[in-house]
Amino acid sequence: MKLLSVKMNDFLYYVGVNDRDTHLFENIWPLENGVSYNSYLIVAEKTALLDTVKITKVSDFTTKLREAIGDRDLDYLVVHHMEPDHSGSIETIRELYPNVKIVGNKKTIEFLNEFYGITDNLVEIKDGESLDLGSRKLTFYTTPMVHWPESMVSYEEYSKTLFSQDAFGGFGALDGTIFDDEINLDFYHSETRRYYSNIVGKFSKSVQFALKKLSPLDIKMVCPVHGPIWRANPGKIIELYDKWSSYQVEEGVIICYGSMYGNTQTMAEVIARELAEQGIKNIKIFDVSKTHHSYILSEIWKYKAVILGSCTYNNDMFPVMSNLVNTLRMNKIENHLIGVFGSYSWSGGAVKSLKEFAEDGKYELIEPVVEAKCTAKEADIEELKKLAKNIADKLKADR
Ligand code: FEO
Repeated sequence: MKLLSVKMNDFLYYVGVNDRDTHLFENIWPLENGVSYNSYLIVAEKTALLDTVKITKVSDFTTKLREAIGDRDLDYLVVHHMEPDHSGSIETIRELYPNVKIVGNKKTIEFLNEFYGITDNLVEIKDGESLDLGSRKLTFYTTPMVHWPESMVSYEEYSKTLFSQDAFGGFGALDGTIFDDEINLDFYHSETRRYYSNIVGKFSKSVQFALKKLSPLDIKMVCPVHGPIWRANPGKIIELYDKWSSYQVEEGVIICYGSMYGNTQTMAEVIARELAEQGIKNIKIFDVSKTHHSYILSEIWKYKAVILGSCTYNNDMFPVMSNLVNTLRMNKIENHLIGVFGSYSWSGGAVKSLKEFAEDGKYELIEPVVEAKCTAKEADIEELKKLAKNIADKLKADR
């Protein structure tokens, strides 16, 4: 009897694991709801394991794998992606199954050597080539920079299943529910957008390229390496990734402020109230000292406008705001409006840096840029309201 692995159909097993111990994904992004490292086992005339898991979870993983594979040997290990959250247990798999052949593309093979010193029992495949497993066959499609240069997906023709590595993945451990027809979609929608914006978003153009490349395939099930398996409605996750990678946004404003003693926070509140007066409903304010930029980035990805406000700290932005700005700069977000404001006490710096950031990126900077000395006075408040109105007018023009 199979107790821990999940039999997905007549030839495929889910042997992935949950990680509820790690606090930060890539040691940056919070995992308050955990994450899954998904792995799949094909049992046909040949056996093939599709990706492994982070080394910290190798024990759970090999227990499931041994249960699912039983007495059979493992013929192939397919490596769709070399980031160590998926490649971390490769050496253990080679120890357990010394005959296993590792399948990857040219870049995968380079990384196997560089990360783990693996140079033997390798099968190099090229874009569009297939691996014959008997009654099942995997065809490979390279998807460079979704998320690393060697990233690739595979398609099993008989069951019309796409093994998509990081693409179509999301944060959130799988609490018993592993399929899209079993989950609370609202929770995973939000955790998947956070994963997308934090991990994959920078590579949105590569995602668009991959979506076009894969579009001729008839996909009945999407099996990513993180988050739920999409078998009831695979089109849903493909649609979401298309939306996020093409910067399709909703009407709304994210206001982020960095404030030591509340003066810059007050300016943020003035802007928010005026936006509400102007009929904007989706307004969210974040204190960058309190909310991790992971969550803020996810919200910015969703809404059309972002307004950044910072107090001046040692002649520059507040350091925590600087961290958010660096994250936004790295992600090269498009199709957004931006407003900036801030305060200083004796010499400025924060607003100048925010304005430079806004002008460097692919944002549309909305005037006025507002800078208050010590506290916002009546004239500053009028300017803040003007900024809010100008942003609201732009948003309403798109209705
Ligand atoms: Fe889940 Fe890019 O590794």
